[in-house]
Amino acid sequence: MNSLTWHERAKAVLPAGGFGNFDHDVFIRDGKGSRVWDESGNEYVDYLIGSGPMLLGHGHEEVLDVVQQQLGKGMTFFANNTSAVELAEAIVEAVPCAEQVRYVTSGGEADMYALRLARAFTGKQKIFKFEGGYHGMSAEAQMSLAPHINANFPSAVPDSAGIPDSVRDDMVIAPFNDEETVTALLDEYGNDIAALIVEPLQRIIPAKPGFLAFLREQCTQRGIVLIFDEIVTGFRLAYGGAQEAYGVVPDLCTLGKVIGGGFPLAAVAGKQDIMRHFDMAEVGREGFLMQLGTLSGNPVAAVAGLKTLEILRRPGAYDTLKAYGQRLQSLFTDHLNRHDHSHQVVGDPTLFDVLFTNDSVVDYRTAKAADAKKNAVFNQHLRAHGVLKSPGKVYPCLALTEADFELTENALIAACEGLSS
Ligand SMILES: Cc1ncc(COP(=O)(O)O)c(C=O)c1O
Repeated sequence: MNSLTWHERAKAVLPAGGFGNFDHDVFIRDGKGSRVWDESGNEYVDYLIGSGPMLLGHGHEEVLDVVQQQLGKGMTFFANNTSAVELAEAIVEAVPCAEQVRYVTSGGEADMYALRLARAFTGKQKIFKFEGGYHGMSAEAQMSLAPHINANFPSAVPDSAGIPDSVRDDMVIAPFNDEETVTALLDEYGNDIAALIVEPLQRIIPAKPGFLAFLREQCTQRGIVLIFDEIVTGFRLAYGGAQEAYGVVPDLCTLGKVIGGGFPLAAVAGKQDIMRHFDMAEVGREGFLMQLGTLSGNPVAAVAGLKTLEILRRPGAYDTLKAYGQRLQSLFTDHLNRHDHSHQVVGDPTLFDVLFTNDSVVDYRTAKAADAKKNAVFNQHLRAHGVLKSPGKVYPCLALTEADFELTENALIAACEGLSS
């Protein structure tokens, strides 16, 4: 059976015939290194890499080895295991804000608990979030994630059905990179705001110089918990994440993707005086944040994550990743320019995409103004020529080879010609 037949079969048992994640007619059969193969037998250079986790590439031998050893010892216990403690130690060592770590299973869960933790710590209710900022699927996170209308700030627009209206009242929504509006909103609502959550690289949009430091300063002055959502940027932008790369330390951060080495694992990490709300003995019943999960700290995920971090600590890993990313960025831009396709490569070498617009991209609305149809066609052409990527991102991985760059360049040439025709 090929991908299309599987898609038909899936429609009977999965709403919309898929998991809700990626195009539902793509069924990936295998992955090895930088490549994946679909059920129709097509081979791709993989710039989707599981939406970020497979930074080392698929099936890295050393990761496979520790996972296989762990599988023989047991897959999940619910009780503590030593590998997850060692992984927490590695996170505390690496990530500037991390004094303690609490495991969960998905990034969205980590974000949900980080917000709740900020509320427990401050005794305040409101959440400050940026329009277009992605923080998982909780009710708060679904506010103005990808709104179809331009509401007046700070009004929140729910992006999902099924969310009580009351959630909207607790949200303050602001445009990313806009210090003036942020200041005005903080002046008005600051006393009621528990947390300000931000992706330090919002999807692919970089913070303007000084913007994250400005947020840090504002949150410190006003007693607001600053949360960096580092589900994507953690162990990608640098070993210590965006907080290391940009030199701004939040109170809490959320981590996922890379720390589970391809298995379900995520975490809230941060300052001990906030994290202590997970410990009833420390804060008493009133301040206690109840949190547990069947697969939290799963030992298979923990050994995979631990080995992944060990490999990432080896000399040159991040230089290589950045060099690969820069080389890809140049390839994209050179070929698009050669074919006169006005565009910008937006993001960081370790995570970027092309936006078809001449206007400067600083927030959700300016990104939305780019030509999305052209982007979709470009991505389709790339895929038809053996390059798989997400609709909004290129994720370079460390397993890329010369053959991958060559194939990518040929796919880019074809895609640029395709766009012109
Ligand atoms: C910035 C950010 N936060 C949170 C999440 C949610 O993580 P998960 O899909 O593991 O729930 C994602 C997922 O892509 C993300 O990009």
